[in-house]
Amino acid sequence: MKTAQRLDFIRDYYFARKLAEVRQLENQGGEPFLVMSIGNPDLPPPPQVVDSLVRHLNDPGAHSYQPYSGIASFKQAIAGFYERKFGVRLDPATQILPLLGSKSGIMWLSLAYLDTGDRALIPQPGYMAYGSVTRLAGGVPELYPLQEGSWLPDLNSIESRARQARIIWMNYTNMPTGTPATPEFLTETIKLLRGKDIVLAFDNPYSLITEQPLSVLRYAGDVPVVEFQSMSKNFNMAGWRIGWAAGHPDIIAAMAKVQSNVETGMFYPFQKAAETALALSDEWFAHINRVYNRRKAKVKQLIALFDGQCNDRGGGMFCWVKLPEGVSGEALADRLFYEHRIFVAPGKIFGEMWDNYIRISLTVPEEVYDRAMARIKQAEG
Ligand SMILES: Cc1ncc(COP(=O)(O)O)c(C=O)c1O
Repeated sequence: MKTAQRLDFIRDYYFARKLAEVRQLENQGGEPFLVMSIGNPDLPPPPQVVDSLVRHLNDPGAHSYQPYSGIASFKQAIAGFYERKFGVRLDPATQILPLLGSKSGIMWLSLAYLDTGDRALIPQPGYMAYGSVTRLAGGVPELYPLQEGSWLPDLNSIESRARQARIIWMNYTNMPTGTPATPEFLTETIKLLRGKDIVLAFDNPYSLITEQPLSVLRYAGDVPVVEFQSMSKNFNMAGWRIGWAAGHPDIIAAMAKVQSNVETGMFYPFQKAAETALALSDEWFAHINRVYNRRKAKVKQLIALFDGQCNDRGGGMFCWVKLPEGVSGEALADRLFYEHRIFVAPGKIFGEMWDNYIRISLTVPEEVYDRAMARIKQAEG
């Protein structure tokens, strides 16, 4: 049966396709795959959060429909979190919108601001969903490059493009490169966008897995900015599907209008348990950052086998690995996948021009990197 034309412009999500291939190959026998491509946290969420979930399961009304845009105490907890972590004051009633995962917010924002043919500016390398969701919403993705090394855009080259676009996507702490933003960059970005008819969509799901947590809202003033945050990575709660949008009240209202027509409020015990998570001390973030740093050291040993290099500093849960000049990340990823059953992400999937890179995730135990090294050494000598 014929599908809508909009499906002609997108493919199934890369990782969904590739994981299906992993399953198919494993079903045919042989060694299990070592999957180190996806940012799916393997560590457990904070135990207090799971206890809190269980405690709230029997609260009165826990299993009923919930308010479309989140219960008041959860939004209050988000506002408290912003004030403590980022020094930003938000009105919970008008500036915060809980989301069933921050990914769904990308859709709500795009449906709220893109008419057919409208442009959205999208960073390269960048998260694949910005482009495909833009297309699904009828918009046109216009790619802009990040500068190799700083992984910031050249703001001068963005200025004129920003006049002709409705949304500009930025993502710091950056995925896949791990680069944090700086206060100077955020100040300059806001200065550049002031007075233009464009929404700055600042995607910040790795905000606490970094050395210097930053929120763009600290710098936004009256410029129309919305920031996306997530509990998936910061609290190892990816399967719970909890995130939120925060920022300009007009944007929040527009997104809520779309969302309330598609989804109903998040499960009450999830919201209560998320409140517990948001009240945790900094020791939690120090703990997960320590684990990721240890894993990063292992990944550096692994990538030395093919002369790859990755930054010591930065954040997020990936190593963005530069390969020797002329080596294709796609070819290397294919070799690791088909010859060694090691699944890493080719840099190209985050932007065509970044084929000299691969992305390795820090979301597997250290011994998995050891096994990967042993497999490569055994096969290649
Ligand atoms: C840059 C970026 N934005 C958004 C998301 C979506 O996160 P969530 O689990 O909150 O939907 C991801 C997840 O991988 C991501 O890497």
